[in-house]
Amino acid sequence: MLRKSNTAEPRDLGDQFALLVSGVVDYAIFMLDPAGVIVTWNEGAQRIKGYTATEVVGRHFSIFYPPAEVRNRKPDWELEVAKREGRYEEEGWRIRKDGTRFWANVIITALRDESGRLRGFGKVTRDLTEQKRIEDGRNAQREAETARLRAHADRMAELEQTKAEFLNLASHELRGPMTVIRGYNSMLADGTIPPAQFASVARLLEVKIAQMDHLIEQMLETARLEHDDIPLAQETFDMRFVVQEQIDTLRPLTRGHRVVFDAADPAPLVRGDRTRIATIVANFLDNAIKYSPDGGEIRCSACVRDSRAVVSVRDEGVGIAREHMPRLFTRFGRLPTAENMTIPGTGLGLFLCKEIANRHGGKITVRSEPGLGSEFTLTLPAV
Ligand SMILES: Nc1ncnc2c1ncn2[C@@H]1O[C@H](COP(=O)(O)OP(=O)(O)O)[C@@H](O)[C@H]1O
Ligand SMILES: [Mg+2]
Repeated sequence: MLRKSNTAEPRDLGDQFALLVSGVVDYAIFMLDPAGVIVTWNEGAQRIKGYTATEVVGRHFSIFYPPAEVRNRKPDWELEVAKREGRYEEEGWRIRKDGTRFWANVIITALRDESGRLRGFGKVTRDLTEQKRIEDGRNAQREAETARLRAHADRMAELEQTKAEFLNLASHELRGPMTVIRGYNSMLADGTIPPAQFASVARLLEVKIAQMDHLIEQMLETARLEHDDIPLAQETFDMRFVVQEQIDTLRPLTRGHRVVFDAADPAPLVRGDRTRIATIVANFLDNAIKYSPDGGEIRCSACVRDSRAVVSVRDEGVGIAREHMPRLFTRFGRLPTAENMTIPGTGLGLFLCKEIANRHGGKITVRSEPGLGSEFTLTLPAV
């Protein structure tokens, strides 16, 4: 706003002011007539928008707007607001002569004479592209930081949940065998069990202790696999021997199952942590036995296919419904079926199998038909 002064002629002052405005380079300052046609232009306007005075004076100011906004009659609407409110301000995209966009702060002021008649509009535009770039960068940084914190919080919540599940499982699954052991121990102590039965009681206790051992081992392994950098042994071995060993170890658990093993040449050689890979096969076999309570055939195979070592275990058991498949490999992922509830388990086995297979660049796949049986296949890079 120009203040009246006593020390200079108004005419002079007007000229000086026009000179001042024309020389401003950081702001585009120009005037529009009441219809929005450009009537003056300054240095800054030329610098920011790229047009010279002769190119734009006489044209409608909508040339600075993106085409979509022109179609929506946004420039006219802005003038209408300025006319009614005295002023319109916004930040938005504008177009330079060369077609590139810049982020602008725009102020449109309605100019009226003493009688209140609209003479036109003053328009001041500032190029804020650089500020916007910096601000957008800062926002992106802030968002990334927020996302990181949220991921961390989610992870903490997940760990908390896992811990709760662990404690639940430990107390529930360990208490079972513990109760049996305590019972036999008190009978041994008070002489209720005759010496002739000591051997069979010892075998029973051995099984219960093995169950507890197995559970503790699975829980410890799960905890270890929480870390990405657990050390894995690096041995080269033949998967056929691993499968044969596990069949021999688990055969005592079979109840009326026929275990068949198809071991094909050439040797499916694998490099990695033999003990851990053996636990995958052990769990496949253990599941095949447990989840086929009526017996049937358990068919194992080990071979090389497309330079991969492929081991599979197929049973004729209860099978798995399609909708339950996604649950199989999750931590504590036991299936919520009536049959399953009567079979003891932790739901950790296949989770561990998947983690171990992943860390060897391998994978596990399942095929199953409810009521007919299941086949679990481990595929590892062959050497
Ligand atoms: N061979 C199979 N046949 C049918 N269901 C199976 C088989 N193997 C695994 N499952 C299902 O997958 C679930 C998860 O298996 P696993 O992680 O080994 O846990 P667990 O054997 O301790 O229950 C089991 O509870 C069972 O419901
Ligand atoms: Mg299992």
